[in-house]
Amino acid sequence: MASDPGCGTGPLFSLAGQVALVLGASRGIGRACAFALGRQGARVLVNGRDAGRAARTVRELGEAGIRAEAVVFDVDDLQGATAAMDAAEARVGPVDILFANAGVQHRAPLLEFDLADFQRVLFTNLTAQWALARHAARGMAARGHGRIVFTGSITAILGRENVTAYTAAKGALHALVRQWSAELAARGVTVNALAPGYIRTDLTQALHGDGEFDAWLRRRTPAGRWGTPEDLASAMVFLAARESGFVTGQILAVDGGLSATM
Ligand SMILES: NC(=O)c1ccc[n+]([C@@H]2O[C@H](COP(=O)([O-])OP(=O)(O)OC[C@H]3O[C@@H](n4cnc5c(N)ncnc54)[C@H](OP(=O)(O)O)[C@@H]3O)[C@@H](O)[C@H]2O)c1
Repeated sequence: MASDPGCGTGPLFSLAGQVALVLGASRGIGRACAFALGRQGARVLVNGRDAGRAARTVRELGEAGIRAEAVVFDVDDLQGATAAMDAAEARVGPVDILFANAGVQHRAPLLEFDLADFQRVLFTNLTAQWALARHAARGMAARGHGRIVFTGSITAILGRENVTAYTAAKGALHALVRQWSAELAARGVTVNALAPGYIRTDLTQALHGDGEFDAWLRRRTPAGRWGTPEDLASAMVFLAARESGFVTGQILAVDGGLSATM
C-alpha cells in the first residue's frame, strides 16, 4: 500500500508565523490580498504612499483580528524604501512573502504618449518592483525560503489600446517571473505572478462609467462580470503557501476566463 502522501493532514495553506509585505496594500487588490494573507495567519506589513490610507487599512485588518502594521514609503524612492523594509524586518522579523503589487496606470494613445509618462510608469511598475523584490529575495535566498508574487496583467497577454507603458512593464514582469525562477528555485524561493483581468478598483475608475466598455467587458468575459479585488485572494494565498514550493515561474491569470477565450 502506498504511504500517506501527507496532503491535507493539517490545514493546507496555513501562513501562521510568517511575515508578508504587500507593496500597494492600502487599496484595491493589495488590500484584499493583505486580508487574505492575514486571515491565513500571516503578520502583514501594509505598504502605500499615503500614510492615512495605509493606516486605515491597518486599522481594518486589526478589527478583523489580523496583526498588521503600516510601512509607508514611495516605491520610486528606492533608498528610502529599502531602508524602510530593513527597519520593518528588524521590528517584526524577516519577510517570508513579498507581494510586489504597487502599480500605476497612464492612458494615452501610442502616437501621443509622452516619453516622461512612459518612463514614470515603467519605473514604478517595473524597475521599483524589480529592485524591491530583489532586496527581499536576498534575505529569502540566504534563509532558504521565500515566496515572491508580482502583479502582472492580462494586458501583457492580450493587446489593448492606450496602455503602452503599462503593457511594457507588465510584459517585462511576466518575463522576469520565469527568469527569476531559474535563479531562485534551488534557493527555496518561488517567483510567480498574478495576472488580473479587469478588476473594479481606483486604477480602472476611468472605465467604470464607460457604458460601451462595460457592456463589451461583460460580453467578452466568460464569467460575465468585472473582477473584484477579493477574486485575487485565494490565488494569492495559494502562491504564498509553503505547500506551493514546487510551483514557480508561473503566470496565473485571474480574469473570469477572458485571456483563455476569443
Ligand atoms: N485593477 C485592475 O483591473 C488591474 C488589472 C491588472 C493588474 N492590476 C495591477 O494590480 C496592482 C494593484 O492595482 P489596483 O487595481 O489595486 O490599484 P489601486 O486601487 O489604484 O491601488 C494601487 C496601490 O498601489 C499603491 N501605489 C501606487 N504607486 C505607489 C508608489 N509609487 N509607492 C507605493 N505605493 C504605490 C497605492 O498606494 P496609495 O494608496 O498610497 O497611492 C495603492 O495601494 C497594480 O500593480 C496594477 O497594475 C490591476
